[in-house]
Amino acid sequence: MKIKKGNNRIVFTFPFLGIVIKFPIINLFRVFKTVFTGRVEGIRNKKLFKRYFEWSVHDPNSFKYALFRGLLANWSEFRFYRNTKNPFLTPTYFSLLGFVNIQKHGRECQLLQADLWCQLFALTGGKVFDDAHHFSEPHNFCLQKDKLQIFDYGSSRTHKVILEYGEKIVENFNASYCWEEEKKKIKELEKI
Ligand SMILES: Nc1ncnc2c1ncn2[C@@H]1O[C@H](COP(=O)(O)OP(=O)(O)O)[C@@H](O)[C@H]1O
Ligand SMILES: [Mg+2]
Repeated sequence: MKIKKGNNRIVFTFPFLGIVIKFPIINLFRVFKTVFTGRVEGIRNKKLFKRYFEWSVHDPNSFKYALFRGLLANWSEFRFYRNTKNPFLTPTYFSLLGFVNIQKHGRECQLLQADLWCQLFALTGGKVFDDAHHFSEPHNFCLQKDKLQIFDYGSSRTHKVILEYGEKIVENFNASYCWEEEKKKIKELEKI
């Protein structure tokens, strides 16, 4: 068993059982940071301080976001898989209201960041740029029999890209794509 830490979840991997268990990180430190870093004004100004509580859980400046983003990511991942069964998703089998998720284990993909990003950029006509944070990180993906699958799909931005291009990515992804080679080909073509 290995323990992996993402931005929002802590993940216990059990390759021999074929599953991983994801727990949300509830980050109290992040809440203190929200209050104290650059927001001292918020402590003095009562109205502003109240607003930090009122802001929605989806607002990155709110306390709720700092506390519950891992929980939301877990719950949203489970619901998105259950509702779409998109082949690009690593299956999420179970969620206890986001407190605990069980997902199929996959072997982290070993592609270079540039090779992954450039190919995804080409396959989606640049749409991955809307969620560059997730799509540029090889450790959010695995290769199952040379088919690319994503582990980390808890965000609505990620969902939009997957709904539009998930199937296309699965069908067309080339696991031996090399950006340097592609660049050479483009240069050769330009000479003609
Ligand atoms: N299904 C999985 N199989 C194997 N490793 C995984 C799986 N899901 C996540 N991981 C590992 O755990 C890390 C964090 O998980 P991730 O879903 O990306 O959480 P976060 O939203 O916190 O970034 C990943 O970068 C990956 O290394
Ligand atoms: Mg991640």
